[in-house]
Formats: sequence, structure tokens, C-alpha cells
Amino acid sequence: MVFTKKLFMVLLMAQLLFVFNGCTSENNKNAKLQNSTDNTSLGKGKELVLGFSQIGDESAWRTANSDSIKAAAKEAGIELIFSNAYQKTENQIDAIRSFINQRVDAIAFSPNIESGWDSVLQEAKDAGIPVFITDRSINTKDDSLYVTCIGADFEAEGKRAGEWLLDKMKDRKGEIRIYELEGTYGSAPTIGRKKGFEQVIRKNPNMKLFGFTDEDFMRSKGKEIMEDFLKPKDLKIDVLFAHNDDMALGAIDAMEEYGIKPGKDVTIVSVDAGREAFEAMIAGKLNCTVECNPLLGPQLMQTVKNYFDGKQMTKRTIVPDGIFPQETAKDLLPYRKY
Ligand code: AHR
Repeated sequence: MVFTKKLFMVLLMAQLLFVFNGCTSENNKNAKLQNSTDNTSLGKGKELVLGFSQIGDESAWRTANSDSIKAAAKEAGIELIFSNAYQKTENQIDAIRSFINQRVDAIAFSPNIESGWDSVLQEAKDAGIPVFITDRSINTKDDSLYVTCIGADFEAEGKRAGEWLLDKMKDRKGEIRIYELEGTYGSAPTIGRKKGFEQVIRKNPNMKLFGFTDEDFMRSKGKEIMEDFLKPKDLKIDVLFAHNDDMALGAIDAMEEYGIKPGKDVTIVSVDAGREAFEAMIAGKLNCTVECNPLLGPQLMQTVKNYFDGKQMTKRTIVPDGIFPQETAKDLLPYRKY
């Protein structure tokens, strides 16, 4: 009888110790995600730490996106560790590794290019840290490496630009020479926008894509390539499709230097629909911009919170976008948020 009571006390102590250990690890956010399916214990009463790896600051879009992420994290009470990769994929991989070493609660990133993420994301998964992808998507066979991807449908954006152009040029006779200013090689928006646009313009046999170059979504590069292109005076261009507003604006500057009237001598369509594009449309220098919304911060923060609240996640969330031809610019500029 005495022996049984002693044994009971020992067992009780052991159980209490076990519960106590459980509580301390419950309070330790780093230990909490050892099992990545245990996603319900964070975000309740304590600040969640999110490591965010941003691509860089190549465009006005990117600046608006970074601002949106920082403001939304503050608003949501999420501690943000923000890292700028200056357009280098290897810097993003280093940043993600550093977040893993810091044992953040969650990692989010906008991937510079589509491929090459599997091993670092596997490291995050092994460490029990959930990964959220935003803006650009990745190319992987293992979609268990991330929780969800929130961003635009880039192929649809390219199609929208192409369809607008088909309609604009429907009565035009003879060859229509199109130059394409592409974004970063291997990135999701470059791949998607190119595919969508080229698929659609094939419907008009007069439309000839006679040149394209990757200009990293940068205004300075858009200007440089257009200057190089315009130097030999005999080259003719009817249409410019730029994968973002910044490159179109750079090309517009170059055209003006060479006495070409952008928006009149050359029809220009770009993507992003930022305020500067609206101003250029009002000035008659740009003909159309397809929307790509950079204000993804609130949705990302809500998704991270939902995850830690144990809510159901969808693998892909497409952010809806529109298209704005020149005629709409004046009325809509006052409402543009970026
Ligand atoms: O991934 C979104 C693209 O990246 C935007 O269109 C471009 O402006 C940015 O740099």
C-alpha cells in the first residue's frame, strides 16, 4: 500500500514536470513550430516575428509593395524583419537562411526568379518554419514547401495587354512591328506576361514581334536599351510592350531624345498601372497600362495570422487586376493609391 502511494507520487511528479516543460516550450516560440502542422499556438497574446525577404527596389511598384508590407505588419502587430536582396537571388537565399537561424515564427518572400528555391525551403520546413510566398510565384514539384502564394496572374496580365492591342490595331493595314521590353529573366512576371501577350497577338498575322530584351524592370535599363535601339536611324518600331511602367517610362524618355513622339508615333502598353503611368497617359505619351496591384501587405499579414489561428489555407490566391487605357487616366488618377 505504502509502495503504491510512493509510486503514485513519483508518477504525479513526473507528469507535473512533463506539463511544466510543455508550458515553457509553449512560451518559447522557437520550439513551437517543431511540428509544422502545429500552427495554432502563435499569434495569441504575443508578437509574431515574420522575416520578409524583398527582391530589391528596382521599380516604383516594388517601393509601393515594400511600403505596404511594412505598414501592414505594423498595423497587424507583427514584428517584421525586412531584408532587401538588391535584385540578387543569392541574397534572398542568404536572407531566408538567416531567418531560419534566427528562429523567426514565419518567413515570407517575393522570389526574384521562379526556380532554385527547393533546398532552402526544405531547410525552413525541416526547422518547422512556415513560408508564405507573395507577388511572384515559384516553380517547384513540392508544394508542401510553402503554405500559400498570394499574387497576380501574370499570364492574364500579358493577355490583357495583347487583347487591348489587337483591338487598338484592328483597322491597321500592313506589318505592325512590336518590340518587347521584358523584366527579369526567369522571373514569374516575365514568363507569364510574355507568354500571355505573345499568345494573343498571334491572332493578327500582321503583328510581328521583331525584338525583345530583359531589362530587369528598371527605368534606367529601359531608357538605355531604347537609346541603343534608336541610334541606327533606319530602325522602325510601331508598338512597344513593356513588362512594367518603369521600363516604358525610361523608353519614353529615350524616344523623346530621338525626336520620336511616344504614344503617337509609337503605341505603348505597359503593366503595373502606377501613378506615373497615369500621368504619362494624360500627357499623351503612354497608351495603356495593365494593372498589377502592389498593395499586398494587408492580405499577407492577414493570411499569416489566419495560419497561426489554425484557419484553412488555400494554396494560391490570385489578386484581381484591371486595365486602364489612356482615355480613363484623367478621371482615375485622383483615386490611384500607388
Ligand atoms: O513582380 C511584380 C513586378 O515586379 C512588377 O510589375 C514590376 O514593376 C516589379 O519590379
